[in-house]
Formats: sequence, C-alpha cells, structure tokens
Amino acid sequence: MSLQSNGSRPALQLTDLHPTPADLAAEVLAGLQRRPRAIPPKFFYDARGSQLFDAITRTPEYYPTRTEIAILQTRAAEIAACVGAGSVLVEPGSGSCMKVRLLLEGLKPCAYVPMDISRDHLRVAAEQVAAEFPWLEVHAACTDFTRRMEVPDSAPEGPRVAFFPGSSIGNFDPDGAVDFLAVVAALVGPGGFLLIGVDLKKDPAVLNAAYDDAAGVTAAFNLNLLARINAELGADFDLGAWRHRAFYNAQLGRIEMHLLSTADQRVHCGGICFDFAMGETIHTENSYKYSIAEFQSIASCSGFTPEAAWTDTGNLFSVHLLRVPDASAD
Ligand code: AVI
Repeated sequence: MSLQSNGSRPALQLTDLHPTPADLAAEVLAGLQRRPRAIPPKFFYDARGSQLFDAITRTPEYYPTRTEIAILQTRAAEIAACVGAGSVLVEPGSGSCMKVRLLLEGLKPCAYVPMDISRDHLRVAAEQVAAEFPWLEVHAACTDFTRRMEVPDSAPEGPRVAFFPGSSIGNFDPDGAVDFLAVVAALVGPGGFLLIGVDLKKDPAVLNAAYDDAAGVTAAFNLNLLARINAELGADFDLGAWRHRAFYNAQLGRIEMHLLSTADQRVHCGGICFDFAMGETIHTENSYKYSIAEFQSIASCSGFTPEAAWTDTGNLFSVHLLRVPDASAD
C-alpha cells in the first residue's frame, strides 16, 4: 500500500481499467447490425445515465430500491453475524455506494472495494465513503465488471464478501447469471460469501409501472443511451424520433426495455448507415424476475450454497446470502 508524504494511508486508492471509446464503438456497432438490434445495458451509465438511474430509484413506482434498503436495514445485524468482521467487501457495480453504508458499521470489513464502469461517479462516491468511514480502507476499481472483475493488488488479504444489490443480476439472462455468479464465486473463494438483491416475480401491472414511471425518468434514462452514442461516437440519432417502451414478458419472466423508432429513418454511426423502419426497436435491457426457488437454483449451478433468503412483507423483493462451500467440505 502506498503512503502519502505525511506517512498516513491515502483515503482512497483508484485502479483505472475503464473501458475505452473503442469498446463502446465496437459493441454499439455490432449491436445495431444484429437482428433483433440490441445494445448492452451497461452503456446506460455515463455520468448523466448514472444520475438518471439514481433519479429512477426515487420515483414512487420503482419499488426495488426502497424495499431492498428496508430489508437490509432490518437484517443488517443478522447478516453481520453470519458473515463476521474483517472481510474484504467487494461491490461490483457500486454506483453511488448508498446501500453498502447500511452494512459497514455492523460488518466492520477491513477494506471496501467498489467497482464501477462510470469513472467520475465512482471516484466521487468512493471518496465520500472514505471520508464518512475513516477507519475503512477503500480500494476503488473503475472496470466493466461484466468483462473483468479483479480485486486491485493494493487491497489487503482477507476473507472475501461480495455485495451485489439492486437486482442487477436480473440484467443478465439466466445462463449469463450463472456464468457471472460463477466468476463471483471464484473471486470470493471457498468460505466466501455473496449478499445479493433479487427482484421477485409479481403482478405485471406493478412491474410495468416501475419501468415506465409517470414522470418519464425511465424514459429519459433509456433515451440518454442515444444521446451518449451521439456525443461519444459522433452519431446523429434524432432523439425526438425515438420513444421509450417497457413491458413485462411473462413467458420469459422479464421486463424488456426498448427504444422504438417513431418514423422510417436513417442514422449514421461509426461510418455506417443504419435504416430503421417505423415501429422497429433497439432492445436496450432485460430485467429478469425470479422466485426464491428459481434464484437459489441459479446460485447452486454457480457453486454457491444458499445460507438465507429474506423478503419484505409485500413479497416484492428478496435478499439472499450465499456461500461458497469450504474446500474441505467437498
Ligand atoms: C440496474 N438495474 C438492476 C435496473 C433494473 O431494474 O433492471 C436498471 C433499470 N432500468 C430501468 N429501471 C431501472
């Protein structure tokens, strides 16, 4: 660990593995040429997209955030008792690092490793955590955790606990979720834990409203993807000619978000012309919903053993504690 000139430990260490504009260009161009057209949801999160996501979590319709927070508040002591103190707490997709604050005092980890794709958002959020919890080492890593998930070399050794709240696991398809959780299982290793929030199946009307709020914040979040592509890749999407579309696909157990072309139109991006017919969509996100049993089965396929699952009284959301069995227990 490097020391500052006054001999004290720096409040924050930041490892920068930020994806390059070439990564964005390659994935966006490939996605726009594919049929059906699709762009991965990770590209929502530029600085504006991260702000809009935070605003979504404050809309009355978007129940997951406040429900998960209530579960974490109620169960914080129980979680800390299961996991124990002195861990290296790793949070892929840490965003504003809000929910982890509910756990830090109880869990007393020796280090916190927030990982996020949005560099400026990560830096600000990690600095705030370091300032609020001066006893905690913070080792931030700017990375696309869907491609590369490593604890920075600067972080101390210790039993590892991963924290993956917000039902971000729902943004993978079920096979992708198994693969991702297997990477997390390898990262925490035998005896390591994963605390993960998972949105539950429920009345489609509740789900549809959560992803199409009356104030239009989710619509702005979805459309910001096109604004980002214009700004960073020099494309010429006319934002007025696209509309937000979100619906629950009951057969596949997922919310789908799309951008719908409201006219026949031609768009230039990365030296390629793309013709969109009126009514054609770009698929921008899936958000899978699981029963407790469905999710535990996914976790088991990834090498985790379910330790506990907590829900709210309305059965809207679940928080699971999973553990990788000790090597000796095989
Ligand atoms: C980040 N992720 C879990 C959110 C979700 O609910 O799938 C992203 C989101 N998209 C629209 N609203 C929220």
